[in-house]
Amino acid sequence: MTQSIVVQVGQCGNQVGCRFWDLALREHAHVNQVGVYDEALSSFFRNVDQRGADSSGDKITALKARAVLVDMEEGVLGEILQGPLRSLFSSTQLISDVSGSGNNWAVGHHTYGLAYREQIVDQVRKAAEHCDCLQCFFLIHSMGGGTGSGLGTFVLKLLEDEFPEVYRIVTSVYPTAEDDVITSPYNSVLAMKELTEHADCVLPVDNQSLVDIVGKIQHMSNTGKPGCTIKKDCTIISGQGGVVKVEKPFDAMNNIVANLLLNITSSARFEGSLNMDLNEIAMNLVPFPRLHYLLSSLTPLYTLADVSVPPRRLDQMFSDAFSKEHQLIRADPKHNLYLACALMLRGNVQLSDLRRNIERLRPTLPFVPWNQEGWKTSLCSVPPVCHSHSLLALANNTCVKSTFFELKERFVKLYRRKAHLHHYLAVDGMELAGFNEALSSISALIEEYTHLESPLMPNAPRLTIAT
Ligand code: GTP
Ligand code: MG
Repeated sequence: MTQSIVVQVGQCGNQVGCRFWDLALREHAHVNQVGVYDEALSSFFRNVDQRGADSSGDKITALKARAVLVDMEEGVLGEILQGPLRSLFSSTQLISDVSGSGNNWAVGHHTYGLAYREQIVDQVRKAAEHCDCLQCFFLIHSMGGGTGSGLGTFVLKLLEDEFPEVYRIVTSVYPTAEDDVITSPYNSVLAMKELTEHADCVLPVDNQSLVDIVGKIQHMSNTGKPGCTIKKDCTIISGQGGVVKVEKPFDAMNNIVANLLLNITSSARFEGSLNMDLNEIAMNLVPFPRLHYLLSSLTPLYTLADVSVPPRRLDQMFSDAFSKEHQLIRADPKHNLYLACALMLRGNVQLSDLRRNIERLRPTLPFVPWNQEGWKTSLCSVPPVCHSHSLLALANNTCVKSTFFELKERFVKLYRRKAHLHHYLAVDGMELAGFNEALSSISALIEEYTHLESPLMPNAPRLTIAT
């Protein structure tokens, strides 16, 4: 079995990461009730000897996450060290400064990148040395703040330089249009250039979709009303102005992202003959290296508090996976083009169910002419806790360009007025050219997706896609 390392950067990266660790532990505990360290656990956890032995003379061991936690503010990492997951991490796995990057990509990328390069490389190397066969890095970060976007993408490049043969799958949380971070369009567009150049796959998740999904779930369970907004203090406010949840309101949204990660990693975490290797995701879904942004749709949708959502019929789940309500970014795949699509199923599902549903849905989904058979499938027999099945659809679809277009517009609006630029240009290593290059990069990316939709684009990529 292979291993993966999670690198979580910034507040959002660490908060989402911790939801993943918590839920992954619950899944493994559910399956492995005797609590023996096994191959499945070894994929994301190490078993570390503790000093001493218990009264029967047996050695005491403890699980440690294969993770490196980075945040330039102390707060979130401090909470993790005090919280219920504290024993999963040793303090050397955590790297922090005091004051954060002040929502400034340049501070995260250049100032902290330079200052913490060696320490981060050191910790990632140590984590890699503990793996027999390191297959993948999972980087988790937000695009809107300074540390996740700036230092997160600095780390991505470091991983590429130091471990070029290890896959880099990035989960990137995109800001809402009304995000409290005014500079979030700058940070996101500057980060996008790095993601386009240095990631193997990016799973974009937009906070507005998460807010909408959580709003709907809460509406369904009658504890709130649909249409929520996120406030600066992280509270989620319902459409009528009532506070739905005050303590850790990002948790519900982050559980959705964690469920995405649980699904995508289930094949790597549990044995199975129809598993999909993590490297196959990029190999099968990314025919052009830069066009590696994958739209994810999840079903059933639930946050931890509502595991009792009614079960979905199997065929209904396949329809869900291609409906807008289940997408983690707001876009319109059916009016754009699929380059390829993966269906990752969990639970007791037969190949015949898969084939039947693909045949049923195929006529409704526009695929590029040169890859009409571009489906990749996997079945993991272990379902999520408290559910009989789940389905994650990962689509390489040209519709992501609309998300990038909106982001670019917001960037241009600020950039035209030169708003807040001086904060960036005051940082050593950051030049105006960096802004222009990032703008050119996102424009070129949008253009590349648009070009694929042109009827005059007959050329298939040179890479063949295995199905
Ligand atoms: P600095 O604070 O500037 O050093 O960077 P950071 O990386 O810590 O910033 P942060 O991750 O807080 O980025 C801000 C963006 O992330 C905004 O768009 C927030 O709405 C979003 N955000 C922050 N925390 C969370 C979280 O736990 N979950 C989700 N989904 N979004 C978050
Ligand atoms: Mg922060």
